[in-house]
Amino acid sequence: MDPEFIARWLPWLRRILGTSGALLGVAGVAVLVGMRLHPGPTQPIPFSHRLHAELKGISCLFCHSEVDRSAHPGMPPVEKCLLCHNVIIPEFEPIQVLHQAKREGKGVPWNRVNVVPDFVFFNHQIHVARGFDCGQCHGDIRNMDRVKQEHRFTMGFCVDCHKANQGPTNCQACHR
Ligand code: HEC
Ligand code: HEC
Ligand code: HEC
Ligand code: HEC
Ligand code: HEC
Repeated sequence: MDPEFIARWLPWLRRILGTSGALLGVAGVAVLVGMRLHPGPTQPIPFSHRLHAELKGISCLFCHSEVDRSAHPGMPPVEKCLLCHNVIIPEFEPIQVLHQAKREGKGVPWNRVNVVPDFVFFNHQIHVARGFDCGQCHGDIRNMDRVKQEHRFTMGFCVDCHKANQGPTNCQACHR
């Protein structure tokens, strides 16, 4: 949240609400602003990373198995979910979406969360091979019930890490 904005309104809020009330108000606004910046799209199935990756301990690479091999790891095919969900809670309503996708021979139309524009070249493989954790770019996915974007992939975000870790900073590396 913009510090100048807080500085401008804090004295005014204090006057009408008292100190603690004003701080609560500011916290409330910060939460609202935070939600606006990172809403995280709703998904066709309310899939929870917290449940699958954290509580059930399924590895990221089990589902995103191309991430160390390809530029675009993509989403797991329906069949992968059904390995478990043919048996686990098969009658649960959201799981019906999986069965239907399978019958129709389509994938689940997941909404994308992270994207870089077409004029930016990004490849997971080299980053994962260098040992960077998924969390450095995606945040604490393990504890998200609904995935949201943790960092905006601005040029600065990429270049700062490249400078700190001897990554390429010439324009052609990312703009080919
Ligand atoms: C390795 C096994 C496994 C795989 C693979 C798996 N799940 Fe699950 N899933 C579970 C288990 C275990 C539960 C908890 C079931 C329960 O609550 O009894 C669960 C629960 C769920 C729920 C209900 C969550 C809730 O909040 O109640 C949904 C929806 C779901 N999974 C969707 C998916 C989708 C979509 C995929 C594929 C991307 C998938 N699962 C892949 C094991 C798996
Ligand atoms: C059981 C399968 C499963 C596991 C395990 C899993 N994911 Fe996912 N992941 C999904 C599905 C399905 C989606 C698309 C729906 C969503 O966004 O929740 C997704 C979406 C994502 C996205 C957002 C993609 C986008 O659109 O930008 C990221 C990032 C991600 N996963 C990272 C991880 C990381 C990191 C781990 C390990 C901590 C992990 N995933 C473990 C199935 C899985
Ligand atoms: C150096 C930063 C970085 C790291 C580390 C990273 N990602 Fe990503 N990830 C991105 C960027 C940037 C995008 C958007 C890519 C695009 O638009 O092509 C993305 C997109 C994704 C997507 C969306 C699907 C797709 O095909 O693009 C998934 C899933 C994902 N990442 C999973 C992971 C997992 C799992 C790991 C750890 C094994 C990981 N990422 C590590 C930066 C990173
Ligand atoms: C966590 C640190 C980190 C972040 C964040 C990061 N990178 Fe990198 N990247 C590196 C390092 C280190 C290398 C050099 C890897 C090597 O040479 O082994 C690299 C290499 C690359 C390369 C050259 C590899 C190739 O395939 O030609 C490209 C392109 C690249 N990064 C694009 C990006 C983009 C675009 C972003 C932002 C969306 C980004 N990176 C974010 C650390 C990072
Ligand atoms: C490490 C990767 C990386 C390098 C190196 C890099 N860029 Fe970028 N650049 C990006 C990303 C990511 C974006 C997209 C920013 C966004 O969507 O907000 C971007 C966006 C841009 C844009 C569009 C305007 C903007 O700011 O969004 C221009 C112009 C640009 N870059 C020029 C350059 C030039 C010139 C160089 C060399 C001095 C360079 N870039 C080096 C990653 C990189």
